[in-house]
Amino acid sequence: MWDANDDATNFQRNFSIGEVEIEDGVIYHKTEYRERRNHFAYFACSRKTEGFDTQREAFVGPYRGWEKPLAVERGKLSNSVAHGWAPIGAHHVELQLGPDETQEVIFLLGYHENPQEQKFDPPASQTVNKKTVKPVIAKYLNFADVDAAFEKLRQYWDGLLAVCQVETPDVHTNRMVNIWNAYQCMATFNMSRSASFYESGIGRGLGFRDSNQDLLGFVQMVPARARERILDLAATQLPSGGAYHQYQPLTKRGNNDVGSNFNDDPHWLIVGVAAYLKETGDWSILDEPVPYDNAPGSEQPLYEHLQRSFQYTLDRLGPHGLPLIGRADWNDCLNLNCFSDTPGQSFQTTTNKDGKVAESVFIAALFVLAGRELAEIALRRGRTDEAQRDLAEVARMEDTVREQGWDGEWFLRAYDDFGRKVGSKECAEGKIFIETQGFCVLAGIGLDDGRAHAAMESVAKHLATEHGIILQQPAYSRYYLELGEISSYPPGYKENAGIFCHNNPWVMIAETQVGNGDRAYDYYARINPSAREPISELHRCEPYVYAQMIAGRDAPTHGEAKNSWLTGTAAWNYYAVTQWILGIRPTFEGLEIRPVVPKGWRGFKATRLFRGVTYNIAVTREGEGNQVALKVDGEPWESTVVPAPVEGQREVAVEVTLK
Ligand code: GLC
Ligand code: GLC
Repeated sequence: MWDANDDATNFQRNFSIGEVEIEDGVIYHKTEYRERRNHFAYFACSRKTEGFDTQREAFVGPYRGWEKPLAVERGKLSNSVAHGWAPIGAHHVELQLGPDETQEVIFLLGYHENPQEQKFDPPASQTVNKKTVKPVIAKYLNFADVDAAFEKLRQYWDGLLAVCQVETPDVHTNRMVNIWNAYQCMATFNMSRSASFYESGIGRGLGFRDSNQDLLGFVQMVPARARERILDLAATQLPSGGAYHQYQPLTKRGNNDVGSNFNDDPHWLIVGVAAYLKETGDWSILDEPVPYDNAPGSEQPLYEHLQRSFQYTLDRLGPHGLPLIGRADWNDCLNLNCFSDTPGQSFQTTTNKDGKVAESVFIAALFVLAGRELAEIALRRGRTDEAQRDLAEVARMEDTVREQGWDGEWFLRAYDDFGRKVGSKECAEGKIFIETQGFCVLAGIGLDDGRAHAAMESVAKHLATEHGIILQQPAYSRYYLELGEISSYPPGYKENAGIFCHNNPWVMIAETQVGNGDRAYDYYARINPSAREPISELHRCEPYVYAQMIAGRDAPTHGEAKNSWLTGTAAWNYYAVTQWILGIRPTFEGLEIRPVVPKGWRGFKATRLFRGVTYNIAVTREGEGNQVALKVDGEPWESTVVPAPVEGQREVAVEVTLK
């Protein structure tokens, strides 16, 4: 009725509290208005109505569902007034339509609040005071006002989408980048992974790692909201540098039920802040005082929070010198300290081992990436000592990954609680994982010693399918107590060898790092929802929105997508295609342009609004490589980072030649 959790559970109460009013053909939903609420909903129509229903069963009919409502079959509503049970709103409009004729009808669904002391009219009654809502209803039952409101909405979106528009040889790339992928990034920014068809209720709130990653695809659209989000997230960080895994956006408090100890979490804050700084150049955010665990008096500049994030891992190194994994890293289902044999236990929060042995190569890679960003940030703040220290730790971790995290042909995934390898050719199942191949290379590990190249070849050989890159192979065929939830899924689904679309872009970016534009783009195209439209019968998800997962090759439904909309896939694909394949990349220094696109592309065009300036970019291919030569406003420019324009200049023309 007004309470997402209670509505889905507390039927013994809720089936008795529903109340409505119907006045002048408008339906008012006023459940709980009599006591502590001063808000209500309304449903109105621009035509004279022939009838209404407000009780679900009256409309749908006994033992029927929405696919076959009795009222529609009868062609008549029954003017039902809801007393308890399940209030709905339905209007009956009679229309005569000639051939080719169109008519317009407005249906208006709204929410309204009254001042506390003017809730009722007459004041001594229990009737909703409609004096303040009636003008609103009258306005939006007027066609000109509705058109104007839609026009405003359209302009708002045109403005948001205009930040980055591309014209490539591929219609699916254009469609996703210019409209749908950006739109999905707004949805994930707003909703994270909560309150959806796939994650019903509101219990989960916003994930610390999820929301930081979502910024990668969102920050260019509304930087001010990204800034606010970063400060909210940072305020849930714990004094240890760790973080609540989730927080509630309304209270802005961490979720106690889930708690902390996901040892990758703190680094995503560095990644999110770096993305914000690169996009905006707003260094003032680092000076914002932010509390720990929302405790008044504990405020420190955001910059100090980032230092604690970094230190968190250094305080938690395992036997091989790699980061301890804690409850899990990015892969929520690799629960190496869980050892759960009890039905119903949460894999994410059950911890039966003290966590002093199991280590994550993934966190090591994330540490390297975040550490490099942090050093850059420190340098620009004049904190040279800190920058040097961070880089020394990063170098040490890189060595550790090379020595302890390499399996010969690919990067290992982890060490379990017995100190045994996970993601190694020595394993019977789960020999190779995508996460460390993508993320180690993305972080720059192995670029100079052949490991990056070898890891990419191994991905192509063992993990790539026509429907995307599988998370790990071979799939776990049974439950492994020491590995946790990953082995609870049937082979081919979710983290157990599904195509987890979230981390496919890590490999795309890694492929651009090793200079393989054909393969980067090929991987991008395999999971592009628009490109998959011709196989919709198999794909079975919206052809304009990314899904979290496509069933892997071990699943009977290989190629079928699931859990669309709220997934980190949105931000990472947007980031991979715009910043690494098309190569239009905000950096601390300015806008860099360094495409790594297929050899067969003759070029592409793009406009990018960056720090208030519009860059009109035209890329032309002359050779088959990735060498970039820039001309800025007609003048040759030796670097790939476009120089800041002169004060007041609003447009810059950049010609890019690829050789
Ligand atoms: C879900 C979670 C995300 C996690 C991923 C892999 O998408 O929201 O936090 O990283 O699964 O387990
Ligand atoms: C399950 C899902 C995983 C998600 C986690 C947290 O483990 O498999 O994708 O991240 O729940 O909700």
